[in-house]
Amino acid sequence: MRRKLVAGNWKMHGGLARNRDLLQSLVQEAGKGGGSDCAVCVPFPYLAQAQEQLKDTAIAWGGQTLSEHAQGAYTGEVSAAMLVDFGCRYVIVGHSERRSLYGENNETVAAKFVAAVQGGLQPILCLGETLDQREDNVTEQVIAAQLDAVLQAADISGFANAVIAYEPVWAIGTGRTATPQQAQEVHAFIRQRMAGSDAALAQRLQILYGGSVKPQNAAELFGMADIDGGLIGGASLVAQDFLAICRAAG
Ligand code: 13P
Repeated sequence: MRRKLVAGNWKMHGGLARNRDLLQSLVQEAGKGGGSDCAVCVPFPYLAQAQEQLKDTAIAWGGQTLSEHAQGAYTGEVSAAMLVDFGCRYVIVGHSERRSLYGENNETVAAKFVAAVQGGLQPILCLGETLDQREDNVTEQVIAAQLDAVLQAADISGFANAVIAYEPVWAIGTGRTATPQQAQEVHAFIRQRMAGSDAALAQRLQILYGGSVKPQNAAELFGMADIDGGLIGGASLVAQDFLAICRAAG
């Protein structure tokens, strides 16, 4: 049985006072069930705050992106080692907003994935098709190309501690969730493709679903055979919603 993981992605939301309340609520309630893991990926300036409030709790934390470089003249960038300095366990890599708004292509994403692994972080690699691509019936080709670029750069061994998140772009922040069956189909496809490189690793690999996960639909999604938890945007900003989604993971 794979353990489930529910990770919040705050995106560019928050502020010191608001975060303090949110994290406090999570700390008080999370981890009581103990059947799943829980994490929050916060904007860079709040990593110190997350570390301060979450250290020695059951909740892990992480960044939302990182540089593909280890150090150097890269103004504005943040390295894997810097995230590790602030106790991060996870880092999101290749989120669709990074791909569509900040020019990250499959090769950049692969380089960032490698930097995360080499830096000792657990990457949460995001894959997903746009609405046009789904309607053109090329979902599997798109996912395969996104995945293969990373497999080529990081080798299957790079996935030993990695997490994959299937996030259909059309379901992100739209309120339009993939049906459990639609998500399951793609999750099974991803696991099968990974099994082509290493069957045992593919069986262990956590594959999260992301895109308009809410307390109302979480249990049904997480009940599918290949869905091992969620990557949660909007609902991770509301303590009671995020906690309800964590409970739905068991
Ligand atoms: P929403 O849950 O707001 O749809 O966002 C999903 C997401 O992008 C998480 O990374």
